[in-house]
Amino acid sequence: MQGKNFIITGGSSGLGLELAKHYASEANNIGLIARNLEKLQAVVEQLKVLSPDSNIFYCSTDVSVQEDAEAAVSQLAAALGGIDTLINSAGILREGRFENTPIETFREVMDINLFGTINIIQAALPYLKTSQGSIVNIASMAAHTGVFGYTTYTASKHALAGFTDSLRYEMKPQGVSVQIICPPEFDSPMVDELNKDRTPENRAHTLMIPKEPIEVIVKDTVKAIESGRYHTVTGFRAKVMAVAIRLLPGLGRSMADKAIKKAAAD
Ligand SMILES: NC(=O)c1ccc[n+]([C@@H]2O[C@H](COP(=O)([O-])OP(=O)(O)OC[C@H]3O[C@@H](n4cnc5c(N)ncnc54)[C@H](OP(=O)(O)O)[C@@H]3O)[C@@H](O)[C@H]2O)c1
Repeated sequence: MQGKNFIITGGSSGLGLELAKHYASEANNIGLIARNLEKLQAVVEQLKVLSPDSNIFYCSTDVSVQEDAEAAVSQLAAALGGIDTLINSAGILREGRFENTPIETFREVMDINLFGTINIIQAALPYLKTSQGSIVNIASMAAHTGVFGYTTYTASKHALAGFTDSLRYEMKPQGVSVQIICPPEFDSPMVDELNKDRTPENRAHTLMIPKEPIEVIVKDTVKAIESGRYHTVTGFRAKVMAVAIRLLPGLGRSMADKAIKKAAAD
């Protein structure tokens, strides 16, 4: 791709940032959305040095606030001159036992991971219909299966997957492509934070699907965006596990139960 206009939410960190670097390096124009202004400004300076041929814009916005999401998208669309591809990577992770999780945490995670994505898509849709562009939602392997400690996160990612599936059927006749990407765990500031205080059961359960380097996640995501394929699990081992979870759910559950029991006993 070259000369295309991307909006990337969560573009100041982790996967969103790596995708921004990739598309900027191909001389595309990028609009970044995240909340922390200083982080965004630092990232924009970095991208401008790496990719002097691309135009980089940014907007410090909380995607979970509908009016702010609308304002950010229209500001960035005006600066870019339209939107060809919208990548929704903004997300948060909270880990802990359900019994210790206040309802506010469920609302916070749903507000950002699900409603934040919906807010941004609603605002971007008129531009994407004009460009016959693409929506790419970053979900997770946690959209495929339950995980110890992730009652909030899996609820949000399963909901995101259901929403994305339905949206695809509505957008296809209108010429807007909709895609979902499901990565396994990869190193990022989100996972650095998780690792500070993670239950051993969550670590044991999650890592039954081995962590992949972020480069693998970026490579497979870029390939998926180019191909227009609807559903992509990134990384070979995660792909195999996703098939196993679908075909042999009982076996998957009993292996997970054993890993969780062992982690609790250790
Ligand atoms: N890392 C993993 O193992 C993993 C695995 C599977 C799926 N994923 C998914 O991949 C996506 C990216 O994860 P990551 O690991 O790259 O995370 P990350 O490094 O923590 O980056 C998250 C990004 O989202 C932004 N963000 C968070 N809340 C926001 C809000 N309310 N409004 C606007 N921006 C917001 C953050 O910036 P601010 O905090 O400044 O707003 C940051 O730019 C997420 O959707 C995550 O669920 C991650």
